[in-house]
Amino acid sequence: MNLGTPESMELVLTVIEMAARDTNLYTFKRPDGGALPGASPGAHVGVILPNGIERQYSLVRAAPELSEYTVGVKRDANSRGGSVFMHDQLKVGSKVTILPPRNNFPLKEDAAHSVLVAGGIGITPIYCMVQRLIALGRPWELYYSCRSRMDTAFLQELSKHPSAHFHFDDEEGGKFLQVASIVEKLPKHAHLYCCGPAPMLAGFEAATVHWPSEQIHVEYFTPKFAAAQEGGFVVELARSKRELTVPPGKSILQMVREAGIQVPHSCEEGVCGACETRVISGTPDHRDTILTEQERKDSATMMICCSGSKTPRLVLDI
Ligand code: FES
Repeated sequence: MNLGTPESMELVLTVIEMAARDTNLYTFKRPDGGALPGASPGAHVGVILPNGIERQYSLVRAAPELSEYTVGVKRDANSRGGSVFMHDQLKVGSKVTILPPRNNFPLKEDAAHSVLVAGGIGITPIYCMVQRLIALGRPWELYYSCRSRMDTAFLQELSKHPSAHFHFDDEEGGKFLQVASIVEKLPKHAHLYCCGPAPMLAGFEAATVHWPSEQIHVEYFTPKFAAAQEGGFVVELARSKRELTVPPGKSILQMVREAGIQVPHSCEEGVCGACETRVISGTPDHRDTILTEQERKDSATMMICCSGSKTPRLVLDI
């Protein structure tokens, strides 16, 4: 996990391309066209919109050196406003604050076989991985599900590959992709990836529950667990030499910021990883969607935006 402090960048929107129905690709560059921090497949960037809304969007292209970031965004009228603002308000030339790439969904590049499952706009990080696997000459299979062909981004490019399989709900009598029937036929040494809507992720996790956890890779963009709200514990900030009591209804992050201490953060929902903090002692009550089961057990780090404490005192490296 990257514990670095994100440094925001003022970038300019240079291209808007339609990728599918209600789905656009947005490309951002530095105003001087200069280099941007590189990214690995599966990475996302934080986008802080001019209205103050902040969202995480996966990169369509990744490389150690980049001069632009392209993200895929589906307009979701039921969302909390980020995608609607991007579709309706952003124009070429708009200035947007971007947080550097982070990767909670890395590709195991030397896997003997990679199987990628995507639903809807969840194709964005998966498409990035497919490009990398093609470049590496590694075997892969893609299972990509959308409501209809019209909703399918990168359809033309991906259709060139026999190992890309598509499922269109409206051509299957409204039936969803059966992830379990795909998983049961896979070679047991495969690494499996999934990004898509919550029901697909739940189905994928249920179908892979007996697989070794290091072969299972999932990307969530919405929280899987409710944030800890219980409070009633003390946080000792070892570097700042401060002690804070977290009351019910408040997060550790809120208390730290209210104390005037600046710490990295972005989504405040446990899905981006920006607030990951080293735990010196105490037992966190993990509520994020990023750490693996083993990382939760080890509790070397925690997400302070959403996780609480199981012990009366937590000592953090802040
Ligand atoms: S701010 Fe995103 S995980 Fe905490």
